[in-house]
Amino acid sequence: MHMHKFEKVWLIFGTVALLVFLTVLGVSAFYLGNQPPSCLVTIDPEKVEVTAPFNAPGLHEVTGKDWDYELVFVASAFSYSPAKVEIPKDSTVKVIATSKDVIHGFEIAGTNVNMMLEPGFVSEYTTRFNNEGENLIICNEYCGVGHHMMSSRIEVVS
Ligand code: CUA
Repeated sequence: MHMHKFEKVWLIFGTVALLVFLTVLGVSAFYLGNQPPSCLVTIDPEKVEVTAPFNAPGLHEVTGKDWDYELVFVASAFSYSPAKVEIPKDSTVKVIATSKDVIHGFEIAGTNVNMMLEPGFVSEYTTRFNNEGENLIICNEYCGVGHHMMSSRIEVVS
C-alpha cells in the first residue's frame, strides 16, 4: 500500500505520543502506589498489643540513635494510647505509630507531623520539640461515629 509521506510521519508521531503517554501513566501509577512511603514496615494488626514496640505505648529514651526518644502510639476506634504524654523540651523524638482496626489519622496540630495510620503498617516520623506547652494530636481521617472524639496530648516540659 502506498502511503503519503505526511501520513507516515503523523502515524509515527501518533504512535510515539501514545507510547510516551502510556509510559508516563504507568510510571506515575507505579510511584503513587498503594501505600505512602512512610508505611514500609508491616505488622499484624491482630497482634499489635503483643508486638514490640507497640506492646509498650508511650515515651522511651534511646541511646546511640539520631533521636533521643521513641514515642510509640497505638490508635484504635476511638482513642490513642497513650492518651497523654510528657516530652522534655529540646528533644528529638521519633514517633512510631500504627492502628489496631481501621485507618486513622495522626496530626500534631500546629506542626508538620501529619501521618496516616493504616492497619498492617507502621508509620514513623522524626521531629523535634523545641517549644514548651501542649500539643494536640487529632485524627484527620474519618474513622466512624467517634472520629471527632479521638485525640491525645503531648506536653512539652522543661
Ligand atoms: Cu480515628 Cu478519625
